[in-house]
Amino acid sequence: MSTALVTGATSGIGLSFAHQLAERGHDVVLVARDRARLENVSDDLRAKYGVGTEILVADLSDRAETGKVAERLADQARPVDLLVNNAGYALKKRFLDNDIADEEAFFDVLGRAVLVLSHAAARAMRERGHGAIVNVSSVAGQITSGTYSAIKSFVTVFTEGLSAELAGTGVTATALLPGFTRTEFHDRAKLNMSRLPKFMWLDADRLVTDCLDDVAKGRVVSVPGPQYKAIVAGLRFAPRSLVRSRARTVHRPKARQG
Ligand SMILES: NC(=O)c1ccc[n+]([C@@H]2O[C@H](COP(=O)([O-])OP(=O)(O)OC[C@H]3O[C@@H](n4cnc5c(N)ncnc54)[C@H](OP(=O)(O)O)[C@@H]3O)[C@@H](O)[C@H]2O)c1
Repeated sequence: MSTALVTGATSGIGLSFAHQLAERGHDVVLVARDRARLENVSDDLRAKYGVGTEILVADLSDRAETGKVAERLADQARPVDLLVNNAGYALKKRFLDNDIADEEAFFDVLGRAVLVLSHAAARAMRERGHGAIVNVSSVAGQITSGTYSAIKSFVTVFTEGLSAELAGTGVTATALLPGFTRTEFHDRAKLNMSRLPKFMWLDADRLVTDCLDDVAKGRVVSVPGPQYKAIVAGLRFAPRSLVRSRARTVHRPKARQG
């Protein structure tokens, strides 16, 4: 029986990872801040799939709490075979309108935690000669929409580099680049998404199924949905000046992050 650890496992994409991994027979370690929600998810997974579950209450903007999750990943007596670095959110304000403390916490959850937890997991997995890491990035990392894009760009490039470093070790790293996906993400940030065309929305369950297929194939970058595959391919060839000017037009507090 193998074990998966999912951060941000109480909602949206992370919740879908937790369900699909449990359905495939993995025991699951669930990480998020809200204990009551974690307990509900844990009970649900045990009842539905008969797997073992563990809860780690951790705010990934807190270094000590992130350190505890890293310790769990490094514990060779209780191996974790698959890590999904998924926890994340969108900021309500633009960079210059925001407090720097909020920006730093954002950086810690979306960037630093991915770095620290990937390090702990990849070392332990390399020693055992197998394992997989999924870092949830975003299509937004391909554009220039504020600090969200900048950090997601880091996550994608970091994961690509990690995957090269892990070549031949039996461990893989995959960056998942979702586009707009129906979860709690936009409501939590009070983003008005009413003008986003229907075809631009992804379904979290479908996206996670496609991602797990890509992980099984050893893909380094997973872009779910034909519309976003086309957008990401186009962005690779688009002049950066054009990318920057388009980002300026969408970079308004309303529908800017996904
Ligand atoms: N939805 C989209 O359109 C979209 C598009 C591209 C990429 N993404 C990325 O997908 C990932 C998942 O987002 P989602 O859309 O599934 O959002 P979501 O439904 O809001 O879920 C976010 C999850 O992260 C957890 N979380 C938030 N802050 C945390 C913190 N400080 N420490 C620990 N856990 C924390 C939340 O639980 P608690 O509140 O209990 O901590 C929750 O389980 C994020 O990395 C996001 O950037 C989303």
